[in-house]
Amino acid sequence: MSETKNAVLKYDGKEYQLPVKIGSEGEIGIVTKKLRPETGLITYDPGYGSTGSCSSAITFINGEKGILRYRGYPIEQLAENSSFVEVMYLLLYGELPKPQEMKDFEYNISRHTILHEDMKKFFEGFPPNAHPMTVLSTMVAAMAAYYPKTDYAEDRKNNIIRLLAKVPTIAAFSYKKSIGHPFIYPDNSLDYVSNFLKMMFAIPSEEYTVNPVVKKSLEKLLILHADHEQNASASTVRMVGSTEANLFHSISAGIHALSGPLHGAANQKVIEMLEKIQKDGGDYEKYMKMAKDKSSGFRLMGFGHRVYKNFDPRAVILKKSADDVLKALQVEDPLLDIAKNLEAIALEDDYFVQRKLYPNVDFYSGIIYRALGIPTNMFTVMFALGRLPGWVSQWKEINDDPEFRIHRPRQIYTGYNERQYVPLDQRS
Ligand code: ACO
Repeated sequence: MSETKNAVLKYDGKEYQLPVKIGSEGEIGIVTKKLRPETGLITYDPGYGSTGSCSSAITFINGEKGILRYRGYPIEQLAENSSFVEVMYLLLYGELPKPQEMKDFEYNISRHTILHEDMKKFFEGFPPNAHPMTVLSTMVAAMAAYYPKTDYAEDRKNNIIRLLAKVPTIAAFSYKKSIGHPFIYPDNSLDYVSNFLKMMFAIPSEEYTVNPVVKKSLEKLLILHADHEQNASASTVRMVGSTEANLFHSISAGIHALSGPLHGAANQKVIEMLEKIQKDGGDYEKYMKMAKDKSSGFRLMGFGHRVYKNFDPRAVILKKSADDVLKALQVEDPLLDIAKNLEAIALEDDYFVQRKLYPNVDFYSGIIYRALGIPTNMFTVMFALGRLPGWVSQWKEINDDPEFRIHRPRQIYTGYNERQYVPLDQRS
């Protein structure tokens, strides 16, 4: 990273030199840190489309070329060859683990999968139809009460492991609670993903074996979701983390941000949309028209992305994966055909082509989750489970950052100028 060039800002007859920061992939940012103290001006960028909020060494995206890399490794290679736990390690510590490091990491996580018994009582307090994302964010925030923040680095390290280990347990328990089944305790002899599947789908009265196709496919989905640089939820985690809030509160905030339909909940919304189209006789062309008509209030869910303007490499992997998984599990899902038809006409349609709108990660992920037996209202929880190591890595990075400062954006005020208070009885 270097700061060798300057940009020049001319305003009101004066000229200001602004340093430029160049990233390792040649991305260029104008450093505006001293802009306000030196000029009285601020930058104005609602939605932050042209704003770099930090420098980060975790994930690289080139949206024009459809590139996504974690710590330099292409997503395609990781999805094909790695495991989710290995990717967790990579994101958190920056390197692929050596065999002993991997063994230790897996062992450490497996030692922390059980929840404090008192935490189980929280589940009783939720109504049966509570959305599992609400349960997840609440339970993660509640972990702060059991593992309070201290300033010891060792505690911070342990809390990261505790969180990674317990979120699958919380997620599976929230599902079991919603269907009235008994909780299945973690089985530490199993790997991370198999253990999660067992907690989700086993029942005490029957033997459960993990289907290798299901496991492999879930590993891939989790890897594809593991990080995505400064998206809305990661930025939320960093924002909250910048106040020195503890890990659990910061991650809980990220889960809340993910729950919005423009972000993580889009995967649930895609399936609901495809089901609606199916019930409506499969007339996808009608929905395409609606998506282009702003007055309809309807958007094609799973389409479009702030950063990807050519293709989303995760969606490319998932489209193929959806075909493979459905075939291997002998599942026939008419929603897959509707999705493919929608995609095919959108890719040819001027409205979508001009706006560079392509399927994003959420477009095909839901179809795979369905085939794996995961209920629709759990899709965003699955996303959260995948994104967890990314959020934690972003939180860790901001805490280790020598330029660490509380995040505190400015604004352009557009309200009233000063006016005088009028007592209640004098207001007409
Ligand atoms: N369907 C129809 N039109 C769309 C869609 C869509 N899915 N997405 C964007 N557009 C249109 C907008 O109306 C706008 O048109 P205009 O220029 O005529 O006004 C143009 O494309 C640009 O869209 P913006 O909303 O300005 O793009 P932005 O970068 O702010 O939003 C977002 C990106 C939120 C992902 C958007 O594309 C969207 O709402 N998609 C559907 C929801 C979705 O799939 N979210 C998941 C995102 S991926 C993730 O978080 C995991």
